[in-house]
Amino acid sequence: MVLKGLVLLLCVTVVGLAIVGYHPLPEGIGEPHKVQFIVGVSKIFRAFSRLKAYLGYGDRQSNILLLRDSPKTTVPESAAYGALKVTRAEIAGVPVIVYQPKDESTLHPAIVFFHGGGWVLGSPDTYDKTVYLYAVQTRTVVVSVGYRLAPEHPFPAPIQDCLDVTRFVLKHGSEYNIDVSKVGVVGDSAGGNLAAAVALKLTTEKSDLPPLRFQVLHYPALQAFDMRLPSYVDLNESVPILTSNLMGVFYAFYMGLDPQNLTYYSTVINENRHIPPHVRKSAFGEFVNVKHLPAQYQTAHETIPDLSAQYDQHVYEQIKHIITDPLFSPLMALDLAGVPPAFVHVCEFDVLRDDGFLYARRLQNAGVKVHLHFGKGGYHGDISSRMWIVDLHPKSGQVALAGAYAFIDSVLKQ
Ligand SMILES: *[C@@H]1O[C@H](CO)[C@@H](O)[C@H](O)[C@H]1NC(C)=O
Ligand SMILES: *[C@@H]1O[C@H](CO)[C@@H](O)[C@H](O)[C@H]1NC(C)=O
Repeated sequence: MVLKGLVLLLCVTVVGLAIVGYHPLPEGIGEPHKVQFIVGVSKIFRAFSRLKAYLGYGDRQSNILLLRDSPKTTVPESAAYGALKVTRAEIAGVPVIVYQPKDESTLHPAIVFFHGGGWVLGSPDTYDKTVYLYAVQTRTVVVSVGYRLAPEHPFPAPIQDCLDVTRFVLKHGSEYNIDVSKVGVVGDSAGGNLAAAVALKLTTEKSDLPPLRFQVLHYPALQAFDMRLPSYVDLNESVPILTSNLMGVFYAFYMGLDPQNLTYYSTVINENRHIPPHVRKSAFGEFVNVKHLPAQYQTAHETIPDLSAQYDQHVYEQIKHIITDPLFSPLMALDLAGVPPAFVHVCEFDVLRDDGFLYARRLQNAGVKVHLHFGKGGYHGDISSRMWIVDLHPKSGQVALAGAYAFIDSVLKQ
């Protein structure tokens, strides 16, 4: 009787979770079963966080912080895999994990890696497997940076940490067997934003450091100026791993807006009411002009109300110095000439798709060598799905990674 009861309870739970977690995926997505699993987990989390907020424990948006992992000091998991020497270290006061080829008789090229997670989540440990593979496949030393996170440490703390570590690697790389003339940056999502910002800053500042050789940007976030680009509208909830609203939450945290009033601020940002009309019409507005997108993506298929005329002066006052700062938003840089060759990975099903398209095009127009990788069937996070409980290497992510490895190889040979 008890057993029967338990089996029944288990069945009800499984069916219940399946109903809560089910999400119709867009046609054309690669390997829908794998994606359905990840989306299911994230939808169940969202349902849980809605319930928690309903019961009076915190607001729904801040619950995203529950997904943080605790800082680790133990030996990184991948140290046991054997092909590389994997160690924790502190560089310029920032915790890092360093992945080194075992052959110490020669100097190696290097990658400074910035993980994703909306400047709020993630750590070198959550990316351990992804970065380990990156190091093996590119035969480089990889320094994976545990930069400080918002909301405790909003902009510019995270980017400052990334800059400090990169400058150190370019200056003292030989301590890690690094050939400092062959260093590049790689990042995904928020990490792609940080990688682009580091590449830009080190290009424009005067210093005697060797130049970075490449930047690899996997589905980067590059601007918060227009939160209603066609990809934000059309792909909003198509693969709800990263939704438009969640991006607004991440930006509100990263901008340093009062986390106690997060729902208010993220709503203003999501509704595009954080910037006054005259600023929208300025030169910066041209950088997000949909005319620069591929023809088939210039108009959103969905229609949502345009609320940008009802802008919120109070919010704008707090963010006006950040929103067009190239360190915050590389797409807002007035000049991109001279930045290192770029691999820009854009996913077909990603709210950040258009950020990547716009940046790749601007780089190209500035005379920068660009490889635009369009991840057909791909979705946000597809290079690092290894960080989930179950290893789910989606093919779109593997293809993008293979492209990035080949790109790094080719620029280092020049
Ligand atoms: C995304 O979907 C949510 C929920 O349906 C909605 O509130 C929001 O306005 C949408 N955002 C965009 C940019 O379409
Ligand atoms: C959030 O900020 C807005 C704008 O300053 C203000 O009107 C509102 O009262 C604030 N809400 C809370 C809960 O602090």
